[in-house]
Formats: sequence, C-alpha cells, structure tokens
Amino acid sequence: MFRIGQEEINAVANAINERVLFKTNGDIYKRTEDKMNEVFGSQYSIVMTSGHAALEAALVAAGVGPGDEVIVPAYTYIATAMAVICAGAIPVICDINETLTLDPAAFEAKITKHTKAVMPVHIQGFPCKMDEICEIAKKHNIVVIEDACQADGAKFKGKRLGTWGDAGAYSFNFFKIITAGEGGGLVTDNRMIFENANIYHDASAIAYFGNQMDNYTATSFCGKEYRTNAISCAILLEQFNKLDSIIADLKKNQMAMREKLAPYCTFAPSNDLEGDLGTTIAIAFETEEAARKFAKYEGVNCGLPIDTGKHVYTNWSCIMEKKGALNPLMDPFKFEANKDIVPNYTKDMCQKSLDILAKNVYVSVNPDWTEEELNARAEILIAGLKA
Ligand SMILES: Cc1ncc(COP(=O)(O)O)c(C=O)c1O
Repeated sequence: MFRIGQEEINAVANAINERVLFKTNGDIYKRTEDKMNEVFGSQYSIVMTSGHAALEAALVAAGVGPGDEVIVPAYTYIATAMAVICAGAIPVICDINETLTLDPAAFEAKITKHTKAVMPVHIQGFPCKMDEICEIAKKHNIVVIEDACQADGAKFKGKRLGTWGDAGAYSFNFFKIITAGEGGGLVTDNRMIFENANIYHDASAIAYFGNQMDNYTATSFCGKEYRTNAISCAILLEQFNKLDSIIADLKKNQMAMREKLAPYCTFAPSNDLEGDLGTTIAIAFETEEAARKFAKYEGVNCGLPIDTGKHVYTNWSCIMEKKGALNPLMDPFKFEANKDIVPNYTKDMCQKSLDILAKNVYVSVNPDWTEEELNARAEILIAGLKA
C-alpha cells in the first residue's frame, strides 16, 4: 500500500450515500471491471474478494481439476499452490532460476502427460520470461494461469503481466502497491474462462439477480461466493487511477538506487528490467554468508528471500504434509483420480531454488522517497556493501 487518502475516502462516502452496495445495484461494479480492462489491456475482467479467489476461479474455469498436474514455482506465496488444491488438482513444484522466477527449462522438464496448467508467478513484481513460457505451454497444450498477485501493473516486453497467459490474477490486499484492504481481480481474453469464472466466483447470486448470464454459452454450476462489494470497487477505481503514477515513481527511485549501488554489487538478472514493478532490488551475493553479513549490517535492515516464510516451498506445511482438506473425502491428495500423480514432496526437491533464495538480499524501494531520503538510504546500503 502506497498512496491512499482523501480520494478513496470521498469515493467510499459517495458509494455509501448512494446506498447501492450490492453488485447488481448501480453501475460501480461494471465501471470497476471496465477500468480493469482499460488499465491491464484485457478483454474481460472480474473483480473479486482476493487474489487467491481469482487464481482458484481461473483454474476451475479453465477446466483444471482432479487428475491434473499444475506446475508452480518453488518460490511463491503458498496461496498459488493452495489454489491448485482448491481446484482438486495437484501442484508440481518446479525450480526457479537466478531471476527468482520460474525457470522455463525446468518447467518444460516437469511436463508429463498429466500436466494441465502452469502458473508463472511474478514474485516481487519481477516478470517471468512469459514469451518462452507461453511458447512451451502452447507446444504441450498447457493452460497458462499467471499469478500476478505481487505484480499489479508490471509488464513484460511492454505488455501487462497477467495478460500473457490464458488468464491472470491480481491481488489488491493491503501489501500490494494498490489496495482495497483486501481484493482481487481476474483478467482473460478467453470467453469460456470468463463465463465459467464469473459463474464460479458468484455462484448463488449470478443465476438469481438481474440478467447477468444473458448471452452465456456456459451454464450454471455450484461454486463459491467470491464477489465483492461497491465499497471495495469505489476504492479500487481510485487506486487504478493512481497505478501508473505509483509505478513511474517506483521505477524512477529503483533506477536511481540501482545506479548508486551498481559499483558495489551484482544485481540478480531480470527478464525485463523496464517492465519490473520497481518495488524491490535483488542483490545477488556469492555466498549466503556474504548475503547475511550485508543484510545484518547496522541500519541496512534488509531480508533474504529464503527467510520469507510461506513464500518458500519448504514452509508450505499443508502442501508438503499433503493436508488438502479437513474432510479426507474432499482432499485432492486422496482422490482416486489423483492416485498416480501425487508427488513425493521433499525439503530438498528444489535445492537449486533454495540456494538462489539464500544468496539474494532484497532492498525495498519507496515511490515517495525524496532525493535526500534516497541518498541517505543509498549511503547506508553502500556502507553495508563495502564492509
Ligand atoms: C504470489 C501470490 N499469489 C497469491 C496471493 C493471494 O492473494 P490474496 O491475499 O489477495 O488472496 C498472494 C498474496 O499475497 C501472493 O503474494
């Protein structure tokens, strides 16, 4: 969360004063989804309660289910893998490379006759190599569901992340660069995914309120209640208006900081530095010891990605321990259809990823730094790098 204030307060007050807080009353829901299409460059969008909801709805809508393997990177928030379980499928954990994103070669090597989808994750707003990933996926007839939950507004080769694959998901929770406190969005150009995801995320209301399913080829089925409300939409509309200026200021400060640090360190390689969101600079060290020494240097106050808890597959306890549901009969790890594809998850199964995560240190960037603040921060970081 970076810039939220009077515009959002006014928008919420207006929404409340209009007294039309439900999806089908008033037009704010439609305006929010139209704005998402405009901002991200998608044909269809659905605003939802969370990024997880958008990932789950995208997977279900694309036809992913029991009997299917879905490839996910070893380094992503646990919600990516959990969304696969919620769709009844099985996550296959795959190595990242030095860019801290899914390694296209490792992805291709993981493909089996059961692979139905891949979920490239643009972690920290670092763009995955989407052209190569999409090409491999196309060759093997695999669906691409992009997890852009940490990359609202970032790009790869000039095209917004989330719009390269068959569907993309954003999160607007409190920790993202734009926020409604909680919230999510799904984008797609695929009509079938749109219709199925719309039904799935609003399963009871969609069939009963208004004419939401007019001109649908898809027919109603039981799903979830992941629709959001006019108050969140009001906030999001203001946040979408601010997105590009937040990114522009992040990029300005990111590039200025990189320039200052460059003589003293090596940065992690990027698949597209221009498109990278700009919230984080990853510094790559030769050893974990060197990374930790820098991170701990007085005033540096930075962290290693290996220490980011549920972002590292070894800490995905419910996945690693195969606890897919409370009721065993609803647990995809125990489904008959999945019996041949449940992997043996081990702590060292993606050792290459763990080594990379232990040798990087993240420097956060703030779009609202003044020049003096940026210089002062750079001075401390440089002292830490020189020590
Ligand atoms: C990579 C990634 N995927 C999915 C999610 C889930 O988003 P939400 O918290 O909005 O459900 C997050 C949330 O932080 C995330 O970082």
